[in-house]
Amino acid sequence: MDLLGPGKVFFCNSGAEANEGLFKLARKFGHSEGRYEIITTLNSFHGRTLAGIAATGQEKVKHGFEPGVPGFSHVAYDDLEAVRAAISPATAAVLLEGVQGEGGITPATPEHLIGLRRLCDEKKLLLLLDGVQDGHFRTGRFQSFQRILEKAGQASRLSDHKENRRDACSAFLPDGISMAKSLGGGFPMGAFWVREPYADLLGPGTHATTFGGTPLACAVALRVLEVIQSEKLADNARAIGEYLKAELLGLSQKYPKIIKTARGLGLMIGVELAADIPAFANNGKAASIQFVNRLHDAGLLTIPSGNQVIRLLPPLNLRRSEAEEGIAILSKVIRALA
Ligand SMILES: Cc1ncc(COP(=O)(O)O)c(C=O)c1O
Repeated sequence: MDLLGPGKVFFCNSGAEANEGLFKLARKFGHSEGRYEIITTLNSFHGRTLAGIAATGQEKVKHGFEPGVPGFSHVAYDDLEAVRAAISPATAAVLLEGVQGEGGITPATPEHLIGLRRLCDEKKLLLLLDGVQDGHFRTGRFQSFQRILEKAGQASRLSDHKENRRDACSAFLPDGISMAKSLGGGFPMGAFWVREPYADLLGPGTHATTFGGTPLACAVALRVLEVIQSEKLADNARAIGEYLKAELLGLSQKYPKIIKTARGLGLMIGVELAADIPAFANNGKAASIQFVNRLHDAGLLTIPSGNQVIRLLPPLNLRRSEAEEGIAILSKVIRALA
């Protein structure tokens, strides 16, 4: 509550399950008016359940599992007019990631978030954020929207003081946010927060799960939060993230035929590869997969994000010396490709 604002949190076991809760919230919200559709974005990722793959804006995850759960449509990311055009009399909610994780580490612009909030208020839609990957201090703030809105001067100082959280929250607040991944620091746990006027829509008996919110999972998540706060890991994510991004941009200048650019917020960084790297030609695999494999062989774990981007999502307690080691491995692999 203190990190977001008045509302309620439902505890579950995974990110996909947290998103299922948001889908059910949207359906309950629109039910009496026959509204049930949720607009999501192209290249999004929202989990592997049947509704999760229906919500995900990527054909490859749906293939083989048709017919899909009805009621989801996808529009271009960060395009307010596309959202407006997709709204139908049956629309109940809009769902997006503040920073698209599988869509190339693409952050939403502050203008888009604020525009979406206004549009959803105007059309009486729920505005839902999937914070499974970009949440829990990964971008340097509790949720990525808080970090993104800082850029627009919505929260003035850099650290995560309470006044700042209020600044960001008063300028923009989604109606629901899903969380998982870092929430349990490796222990399986998910959650979704629902803003106050809607917090009781899913009342007792409408949503539940046996293992959600067990004392063990909650004790682990609480300790993770205490460590993140006492060790100032949000500040660490910012500082080490800035270092990594600067080094990667330096590498892109030095090796423009291998690295096109680097972007991201905090410790959620995307490295976009140049088109047509000769060493990757003619073997049928996406450049991102080939690059990730070479890094793996050299001792660095990363993950593709689409065909041209690789993702760096290191632990929030990454030390500067470890970041330097990672950059040294990346440089070696890039040099070999060049
Ligand atoms: C943005 C996003 N949403 C949902 C999920 C699904 O989470 P889980 O794997 O915990 O079900 C993921 C997982 O990668 C994710 O990145």
